[in-house]
Amino acid sequence: KEQSQAFIVVEEFMSRVQIMSKSSRMDPERNESKQLPIYQHKTKLRQAVRDNDFLIITGETGSGKTTQLPQYLHRAGFCKKGKIGITQPRRVAAITVAQRVAQEVKCTLGREVGYQVRFDDCTSQDTVVKYMTDGCLLREILADPGLSQYSVIILDEVHERSLNTDILLGLLKKIFSNPDEAKKGRSFPLKVVVMSATLETEKLSSFFGNCPVFTIPGRTFPVSCTFGSAIGHKDTESSGYVKEVVKVAFDIHTSEMAGDILVFLTGQSEIERACDLLFEKAESIDYRYDVHDQTVEGLLILPLYGSMPTDQQRQIFQPPPPGIRKCVVATNIAATSLTINGIKYIVDSGFVKQLNHNSRVGLDILEVVPISKSEAQQRAGRAGRTSAGKCFRIYNKEFWEKCMPEYTIPEIQRTSLTAVILTLKCLGVHDVIRFPYLDCPEERFILEALKQLYQFDAIDRRGRVTQLGELMVEFPLHPGLTRALLKAASLGCQDLLLPVAAMLSVENIFIRPGHPDKQKEAEKKHSALAAKSGGMNDFATLLSVFQLCKSSDKPSAWCKDHWIHWRALKSAFSVETQLRDILLRLQQKRDFPVEVFDGNKSELFRRCLCTGYFTNVARRSVGKVFCTMDGHGSMVHVHPSSSLFDQEAELDWIIFHDVLVTSRVYIRTVCPVRYEWVKDLLPKLHEVDVYELSNVAREEVTDEEIMKWENKEAAKRQQDDAMKKLEKRNDD
Ligand code: CDP
Ligand code: MG
Repeated sequence: KEQSQAFIVVEEFMSRVQIMSKSSRMDPERNESKQLPIYQHKTKLRQAVRDNDFLIITGETGSGKTTQLPQYLHRAGFCKKGKIGITQPRRVAAITVAQRVAQEVKCTLGREVGYQVRFDDCTSQDTVVKYMTDGCLLREILADPGLSQYSVIILDEVHERSLNTDILLGLLKKIFSNPDEAKKGRSFPLKVVVMSATLETEKLSSFFGNCPVFTIPGRTFPVSCTFGSAIGHKDTESSGYVKEVVKVAFDIHTSEMAGDILVFLTGQSEIERACDLLFEKAESIDYRYDVHDQTVEGLLILPLYGSMPTDQQRQIFQPPPPGIRKCVVATNIAATSLTINGIKYIVDSGFVKQLNHNSRVGLDILEVVPISKSEAQQRAGRAGRTSAGKCFRIYNKEFWEKCMPEYTIPEIQRTSLTAVILTLKCLGVHDVIRFPYLDCPEERFILEALKQLYQFDAIDRRGRVTQLGELMVEFPLHPGLTRALLKAASLGCQDLLLPVAAMLSVENIFIRPGHPDKQKEAEKKHSALAAKSGGMNDFATLLSVFQLCKSSDKPSAWCKDHWIHWRALKSAFSVETQLRDILLRLQQKRDFPVEVFDGNKSELFRRCLCTGYFTNVARRSVGKVFCTMDGHGSMVHVHPSSSLFDQEAELDWIIFHDVLVTSRVYIRTVCPVRYEWVKDLLPKLHEVDVYELSNVAREEVTDEEIMKWENKEAAKRQQDDAMKKLEKRNDD
């Protein structure tokens, strides 16, 4: 009690926390799982799965669905003929749950129990219970449409309504509700179980031909909710709410009775900042006088977000040592995907990071937006699992009423569908408009996806997958990035693009320290790295960081010295190898396109990028403001983190990787290009009439119509050429 104890898990404090948790390690014995609500229904559940090809299971979060049901089925012999596959919308959930289950059944992770997420496969020949992301199962269906290795497929967390899960629902319905289809490539029937935490089960049941619903009754305790005053209906800047949640969490720590705290924020950098601030505050506590509950002797602060290393994630679930209050600062992942025991207090920021298709900009944008009311209720409910709890909302009642929608809109209705539509097309689903969607996406989103696929040459005028499209679908990357990579591969310069694709697929590699002095130092190092790669091209900087680090004697020390996240680079190395393997396999198997190019390397590199990013071309308007060329004509600004930010040089045309919206629309990872490189590609952004493509999607197109379009297009081209000649003559 003499000394204040406060711990925080950022890398440098890891050792302290590890020592501490070793002493308090609790063996997750079977006994503990017998306490879960699902346990009493074990026999009935097994029988229900035996009796039904489609089954819906619903129960409160934390009742044991994800961790227990696969074990029950395994022990009842469901793995004799095939595996049990369980999908999760989030990769962290797939990994941590697999870890937990492996621990419960006392096997090494990756043996009987394993997981697979994008770029990380932890399974083996022995794996019979396989947790995976919904995206991974979608890829498996591409390779094996009958899912012949599986005896049971469990689609979990369906209430989250992730894009891939929604597509899987439709596909499984389509394939396995037709007995003839279902038998293809299978010698035994497949069982499909759909699990959901909310009561949207009627809709799900009618979707699957009125299949039975198994409800796991569970008891929850009351949670009292209070509204704050910090966030009103006009507040959206994140700096405000981070400080406020820290203040509220600290107040709980000092003035409330023992019990753990769960704080909801939106993303990694915010969470790390909140942890820093909280740590600073907690250090000043004198536990003899400052805390209301004298049994509380310290605060353990733990961050939780998607890209965290897995050993650190595991810490989250361990009970804190006696007298220590645990405070988990998490993204929305802790709302339903993961259940942390012992939580009594919730601090709700009211915001979430969401990928939305922004029709103003015409792109998918990761935005911080207010959560829905149902989401807020779900967050609050996390405090009432084992006893009564309290939820502190930092926003006021007006914010609740004016800014928060009733329900969260399913992802399928708010993000770009390009990648999944290509997957569907490759699976032979030609009519993507009349696919059995649980909730139909807006038709214009489907049209936009078709248009983009056509622009990337992944589908033809008839909406059929091209040879290139078949190659593209093999890569778990954004179609644009894949297109650029394939272009590079056809020119024999894949070594330029593979590292870039890998670097863009992992978390941010540049460390941005909170302390102003350190921040300056880091920025200096980063701009030196940019300069080394020739400057003025963020893609080239990524390539150069990758190469420099890889060729250094001590890569981890090199990273530390240059303020680069070593962990992120390590994943980038692994991702690059995996992408290279996919490419090699395709180059061996198929008629891989080959082209030649003479010109310098920097031009070659940027030209390849143009092939994939011509949809993200912008032209200088005034100063640092650029105007996008995709028909939306949005005004965008180069992000300060870009090496082009300070450049006064003549930059007229640029391409960019992604967009960030705060008070302005920023573009990040930017590279200058020449008009000549994109000019032949740009007409593709406009010439295609989406309504014609929609006819294609509906299979109502005739050869005659196609001829008509092609003639029309040729005529247009001729006209354009004539215009250009005329202009040129005038200029001359
Ligand atoms: O899927 P559902 O929300 O119904 O529950 P679950 O995820 O199976 O969680 C059952 C129990 O396992 C909860 O008490 C969790 O806290 C615990 N659990 C854990 O301790 N560690 C994990 N990695 C996952 C779950
Ligand atoms: Mg679950």
